[in-house]
Amino acid sequence: MASVANDYRVSVLSDGLPFGATVAGLTREHLESAEVRRRLNAFWIEKGVLLFRGGESSQEMQLELSRCFGTLEPHLFPESRQEGFPDLVKIKFYPEDGSYYEVNGEMRGGWLPWHCDLMYTHRINRGGILRPAQLPSSGGETGFIDQIAAYDRLPADLRDQIEGLHVVYQVEIDMSAQPFTNHGEVRLVRMAASGSNIEKRKFSYPRVIHPMVYTQIETGRKILNISPGFALGIYEDGTAKGDALLREVIEICTEPAVAYFHMWQEDDMVLWDNWRTLHCAKGVPPAQTRVMERTTIAGDYALGRPLGLDGPVADFAV
Ligand SMILES: [Fe+2]
Repeated sequence: MASVANDYRVSVLSDGLPFGATVAGLTREHLESAEVRRRLNAFWIEKGVLLFRGGESSQEMQLELSRCFGTLEPHLFPESRQEGFPDLVKIKFYPEDGSYYEVNGEMRGGWLPWHCDLMYTHRINRGGILRPAQLPSSGGETGFIDQIAAYDRLPADLRDQIEGLHVVYQVEIDMSAQPFTNHGEVRLVRMAASGSNIEKRKFSYPRVIHPMVYTQIETGRKILNISPGFALGIYEDGTAKGDALLREVIEICTEPAVAYFHMWQEDDMVLWDNWRTLHCAKGVPPAQTRVMERTTIAGDYALGRPLGLDGPVADFAV
């Protein structure tokens, strides 16, 4: 294995971007090397987003590569799991089925605002690898934002104000009903059949809270730990003032100029650190089909908490 361990190549993801890297020419043979796996892990923690391009791209490679970064777990929602492959999440939009929205006057199938995956659970997963199974002829980009750079951009007074605060999250499948996504005018036109199932039972999942700021253990860098998608407000301040503070922070975090939008090629795979990046899906024209498969790398940063009758929510007088 020593002969192949170094013959993949790394480069920047995009000039001027403070995060991300491209790893070219990686194959399953490379993954047999413990040193390669260690280096990929360290690189992922450092860069946040890794694009794998020009190497082996298959369902097998996606699963094996994902396992270099941790154990895999099935998605919380059975509707999201790929039939026969519980470790794969199927993210799909078909002209005849799939959620689509009118976003600022434009119809977008499979549109998703900025979010962190599974932020509505108290154990948010470590990351995932996304691979296209069927690409549309236009659209379908995936956006990424680095929340270490986002924290660094915050003015000092905002950093002080959010230190020690938490945000409340809840399952919400209708993206037009999310109060803190900042995408202008959004209207749900059609809900996917699978999404309707989940939406019916959304209140059976407890609300959770996550700290707005935490420190990346491996590097000591601070992370702005907020997800506009699924957020309900600041736990310590549910007033309009708290909402305004959260909106102000989200505006800075999601400034379009600092985002990277990935235009997919067929053999690409993208790995992201779900503990320090946001992502979004721009969507496709509703007449097109887009099918992606994603792994879910398990993890628990141990800072999230479910809210329940035995939890802090009971402290409030009603
Ligand atoms: Fe996602």
